[in-house]
Amino acid sequence: MRSSRLPWALRFSLVVLAALLVPAPLARADANRVARGDHGIVVSASSHASQAGVDILKARGNAVDAAVATGFALTVTHPLAAPVGGGGFLVAQTHDGDAIALDFREVAPAKAHRDMFLDSEGNVVEGASTETVLAVGVPGSVDGYLRLVQDYGSGVLSRAELLAPAIRLAKNGFEMTENFAETLNDSRELFSKDPAASKIFIRPNGARWKAGDRMVQPDLARTLEAIAREGRPGFYSGAVADGVVATMRKRGGFITHEDLENYGSVYREPVRGTFRGFEVVSMPPPSSGGVLLVHMLNMLEPYPLEAMGWNSPEYVHLLTEVERRAYADRATHLGDPDFWNVPMDSLLSKRYATKRRLTIDPERATPSSDVSHGAVVVSESGDTTHYSIVDSSGNAVAVTVTLNASFGCGIVAEGTGVLLNNEMDDFSAKPGVPNLYGLVGGEANAVEAGKRMLSSMTPTVVLDNGRPRLVAGSPGGSTIITTVLQVILNVLVHNMPLEEAVAAPRVHSQWLPDRITIEERAVQPAAARRLTDMGHEIEVRNGALGNVNAIGVNGGEFIGVGDVRWENSAVGY
Ligand code: DON
Repeated sequence: MRSSRLPWALRFSLVVLAALLVPAPLARADANRVARGDHGIVVSASSHASQAGVDILKARGNAVDAAVATGFALTVTHPLAAPVGGGGFLVAQTHDGDAIALDFREVAPAKAHRDMFLDSEGNVVEGASTETVLAVGVPGSVDGYLRLVQDYGSGVLSRAELLAPAIRLAKNGFEMTENFAETLNDSRELFSKDPAASKIFIRPNGARWKAGDRMVQPDLARTLEAIAREGRPGFYSGAVADGVVATMRKRGGFITHEDLENYGSVYREPVRGTFRGFEVVSMPPPSSGGVLLVHMLNMLEPYPLEAMGWNSPEYVHLLTEVERRAYADRATHLGDPDFWNVPMDSLLSKRYATKRRLTIDPERATPSSDVSHGAVVVSESGDTTHYSIVDSSGNAVAVTVTLNASFGCGIVAEGTGVLLNNEMDDFSAKPGVPNLYGLVGGEANAVEAGKRMLSSMTPTVVLDNGRPRLVAGSPGGSTIITTVLQVILNVLVHNMPLEEAVAAPRVHSQWLPDRITIEERAVQPAAARRLTDMGHEIEVRNGALGNVNAIGVNGGEFIGVGDVRWENSAVGY
């Protein structure tokens, strides 16, 4: 793993620890991290973006309108993860009881091919899938956002009105927080390799950014204005497309005008599961998130989880064994459903979950080398950020978007202000060779032209009697799925109030590498000793596992909670 390019969620440590250990700043941060309301709530990684979303709700837009305005605003104020040079997924439960899953994941350009990240000897070329133009998948966010407004927006607000806050923030700029400034400073080396990125993200006189500095992005403002004016062609053709293609040509990238023209977001059938009477609605492939989440909940359902106790050795052992089996399946069975027959019926069935869980030894860790993917029936039919929104008419929206690593590949398409993703690294460059998140894969997730790379993003809505009860999601690469799982278990099994459920320290495992990663204080020393005795290897992460922005619904009352692991912002009314 290339630690210098690990996303912030995996590196973010001192601020987290300060937030967890020092009561005063935490109390102050709480004022923005938690919001209550009965009209609507937006929780995102940026106060400007959350405010933009709430302003749209107040102007009679619905949660989908607000999601789009928030998404465009995040492009400007959360360049780490949310630029329109990336892609994502939306899962929503509408007020009339429908569930939607929109896939606006990036796709591999037409010239992409299986061995594009290998040298002549068949070895993976270090950095090719993360820091070069070959790392860039054809961006999906703009097509996704515009499709959503058209199909599910209220119709009360125009496209231009939804983009207005983002354009204003890009044109007039916004004041940086200390954390934002430090995040930019930390990535200076990456930006310095690209003149267009340097111009925006390195302070003009070369000094370090500091709190209170203003970030103005005139090129990006022009790009957003073109989208407001022209819609889809404002991004996928014309000057913006020219800028992307020129950048590719100069540096040997693959994306062409045709790739951009051909991009289309796709509605998918949401993944549905049940857990102790609650319904879980989440993202299907090309994300592995929803399938693994439901499969793990199915395996966990029969156990006396409450009696085991939160993060007791028995509980962490069980989570780990369940995760080990689920991630082994991910590596073999999951990929873009348009290219690979994902055995959805088996993976989502309670019966398959029972078969898998019966191989768990309650006393001993099963070495990952002894665990492989399960035998399934293949049926014939075949750095990231999350935000959550609810509105007063009963719509609940969960959106996770990403560039992959923090600031993507660090390259800005000439003259557009658009930072480009490095999502191609989510493909399996070579069977068995881990990607940025230590994930391995094979045939199902091999690079192919026009294919979507497998994701772990897990935007999720939990329903109680058909009505939204919890909206959640997270960044964190491979740790996203186990993060969302634990927040759901904390609420539904351990009865924690949402603030506690989100803040509680987390654990993670993923089959390979064969170990449990824990956040500081997630497991008591005696429990850690017991887990080691059972045969587990434990690693304490010097950083955070995930960053959850969630909303809880209790009758007509909403509570929005941003994770303590980042300066998230909940705004409600
Ligand atoms: O789609 C995925 O699973 C990854 N590209 C997500 C990357 C991520 O969460 C980085 N954030 N910390």
